[in-house]
Amino acid sequence: MLRTLFIYLSGAGWAQRLVRNWKFAQKMAARFVAGETLDEAVEVIRQLNDQGFNVTLDHLGENVTNREGALAAREEVLQIMERIDREKLRSGVSVKLSQIGLVLDEEFCLDNLHEILTNAQALGLYVRIDMEDSSLTEKTLRCYYRCLEAGFGETVGIVIQTYLYRSEEDIQRILSESGTVRLCKGAYKEPASVAFPRKKDVDDNFDQLARNLLDKAAETDREISRDGIHPPIPALATHDEERIRLASAYAERIHLPKHKMEFQMLFGIRFDLQKRLVAEGYPVRIYVPYGEEWYPYFTRRLAERPANLWFFISNYLKG
Ligand code: FDA
Repeated sequence: MLRTLFIYLSGAGWAQRLVRNWKFAQKMAARFVAGETLDEAVEVIRQLNDQGFNVTLDHLGENVTNREGALAAREEVLQIMERIDREKLRSGVSVKLSQIGLVLDEEFCLDNLHEILTNAQALGLYVRIDMEDSSLTEKTLRCYYRCLEAGFGETVGIVIQTYLYRSEEDIQRILSESGTVRLCKGAYKEPASVAFPRKKDVDDNFDQLARNLLDKAAETDREISRDGIHPPIPALATHDEERIRLASAYAERIHLPKHKMEFQMLFGIRFDLQKRLVAEGYPVRIYVPYGEEWYPYFTRRLAERPANLWFFISNYLKG
């Protein structure tokens, strides 16, 4: 119920206008967001790199509805990559296709994506395409496959959400085309016609699809690159200790070396677990968002965990 409300609020323009200028909300969002500027984000990446983490950097923004906005978002990604390269950071970038024009025109979006990938390829960087709500799943995958066909397989990866019924088939196809996958549960409100309504089914599907990815990793030579930028085939993105325990136990059972998989977590969530996995020798990548458009991202994080909401309210009441 609360989750549904917060996911609705994450897309509601009126709520965004109300909350974004609220100093208290800005302070709370800082727990999950690395700052509003690239300089602030770079500082956070440097600290994370020093602690043994790799990073994927996300310039916040989604559902851009005009061409100027999409081109500006593309330029920002190009600048981010130039900065990552110049400062020798162990970081890739994450991009939402609705940020660079997917809701406007698929071909226009693809042109923007090609430009980003051409640049990433030249710099030896890696781009992960985030997955958005199910109205964009098919289009996002279509763009991704066209990038694979265009020869960007080493440079680009995709995200698959285990709450969707279709995901097992999607993963089969992606693996048959030598793709790389970030597996997550899924952060949007989806109808029962496309997604498992019960958390247990989402978790079970996560376990099954993680095993499929780990099996594939065992068959191939691909591993995380030495500079930490290019990920292995399976990137398991969750803070759920049971999912992590089952996946690492399975990887051990099939004798998969640790550098052929990686765990991914969000900035500001379960730092204890992030550190523990690094200490155990797993590659761990932190998803670091930054920018002024923090509102939808922040409300999705509140939706995921009611305790965050109580933390938010109690801090507000304390003044
Ligand atoms: P679950 O929600 O079951 O939480 C397990 C435990 O993790 C909780 O008990 C709590 O301890 C901790 N936790 C989880 N969320 C928390 C929060 N917000 N605050 C505090 N603690 C929290 N989704 C998507 O649809 N498209 C995408 O492209 C991505 N990309 C992505 C990248 C990375 C690196 C991560 C880690 C996640 C995503 N996600 C995503 C989000 C993902 O789909 C999912 O919504 C969240 O990761 C929460 O689910 P968990 O797997 O952590 O499990």
